[in-house]
Amino acid sequence: MEPPLTRPDLDSQGLRGFLRMVEARFPGELLRIAAPVRPQLDITSAVFELEKAGRDPVLVFEQVEGHAMPVVTNTTGNRRLLAACLDVAVGDLPTAFRERCQRYVPCETVDAAPWQEVTLDGDAVDLTTLPIPIHFSVDAAPYITAGQLVARDPVTGVDTTGFHRLMLKGKNRLGVSLHSRRRMWEFHRRAEERGEPLPVSITLGVHPLHYMGSMVYAYPPAVRKFEIVGGLFGEPYRLARCVNGLEVPAGAEIVVEGEILPGQHEPEGPFGEFTGYASYRSTQNVFVAHRLHMRRDAMFHSVASGMAKDHILVSCITREGEILNTLRRNLPNVIAVHVPHTTCGAFMAFVKMRKTAEGEPQQAIMAALGTEFYTKYVIVVDEDVDIFDMKDVMWAVATRVRAERDIVLVPGCKGAILDPTSDPQTFTLTKMGIDATRPVGQDFAERLTISDAQRARVRGILQSAGVMV
Ligand SMILES: Cc1cc2nc3c(=O)[nH]c(=O)nc-3n(C[C@H](O)[C@H](O)[C@H](O)COP(=O)(O)O)c2cc1C
Repeated sequence: MEPPLTRPDLDSQGLRGFLRMVEARFPGELLRIAAPVRPQLDITSAVFELEKAGRDPVLVFEQVEGHAMPVVTNTTGNRRLLAACLDVAVGDLPTAFRERCQRYVPCETVDAAPWQEVTLDGDAVDLTTLPIPIHFSVDAAPYITAGQLVARDPVTGVDTTGFHRLMLKGKNRLGVSLHSRRRMWEFHRRAEERGEPLPVSITLGVHPLHYMGSMVYAYPPAVRKFEIVGGLFGEPYRLARCVNGLEVPAGAEIVVEGEILPGQHEPEGPFGEFTGYASYRSTQNVFVAHRLHMRRDAMFHSVASGMAKDHILVSCITREGEILNTLRRNLPNVIAVHVPHTTCGAFMAFVKMRKTAEGEPQQAIMAALGTEFYTKYVIVVDEDVDIFDMKDVMWAVATRVRAERDIVLVPGCKGAILDPTSDPQTFTLTKMGIDATRPVGQDFAERLTISDAQRARVRGILQSAGVMV
């Protein structure tokens, strides 16, 4: 048998390149687990257990019962590793991400990719042979969570790439939900209008920079998302062509070619979603697989679901970058934006600004709420508040807000389908902005502070008394 095809230039832009970088630069952040695990529950619950213990390492499960293929998870649960992918300091991550994802770099198409080593067609396709985890006990079936779906707009021909949960229904059948209603949803709607299926390729085993680029939503319709990923890599993203003509990342591990059927809906879910709830809401679409490609030594990538950081952290950073981008156009005095993990990486944004005039927080609230539909609460604070510390933000709300003056409600807005507060028929909800800034040009209560010099002095005293290390 021929050895597996190695292409360092392709691997560097895939999951393997990322694992190599982590092993070389952050060896403590990659754990290889040789003990046998079950695909049912063990993989995702290990991520949660480590998170509870304050650890977010990448995990490689080498022995998954019933399967020869290892499972890699939690590649994006750690801001430090994501910052390293962009070669920036952790504090600069949202800004660097925002800037780089606006540099659209044309892709390069290569002739051969390692995932073309093994190809199974038609009846030989059997997705049940893959080590697909069950993440939570509520999940209706095993779920592929790291499948990047690639399709072309049937009208313009421009392609897109994005994660969509995939429920294993049979050898060649997957349930899929397009509930985020972005490009894939729209492309499928356009194909359906013509009575046609939408050709789709599912790619597994992509680099975190692909994950991050795929979550960008504010960009011109003629731009390919792959060009955004190229901007993040700082070089052309290398793609290879599937039999169906779609182009997918050349450095991937596994590729499934198939189509989303027109006019067909089947039950899909429940599934443990990013909201921290079992989600019964779904667009209930159906994907049929025609062809399965993989590397001879393929690894199976899985995103830990529910509220795991692996599922949410990139959404936090994407939204921080996008909202900052919107705000800075009109409000150069906005300093930073934070979308906390504890608000599902989606529903709440904290904005820190150096307020120069009354009304600026309200401008920021309107712009941030209008950036996209998942953001439903915005809190604006002054420059002395640490927006990465929920306690500090709550203190500002508690001490600087007068409800009758500082709270803005916007009823009837489009909300997220998966948000349990959105209307079950229309998915609308009321958005809210809170201005937690002090008034300009008026006396206001003086915040208590302890200077850095005093802190250092007292730390020295406590250390010499043996009560602090
Ligand atoms: C791990 C993960 C899973 C996701 N699952 C879904 C999903 O099941 N359905 C969906 O519509 N969006 C899902 N999303 C969000 C989309 O991937 C995201 O909105 C993307 O930008 C959509 O790309 P598109 O414009 O190509 O549709 C998921 C995001 C992540 C990070």
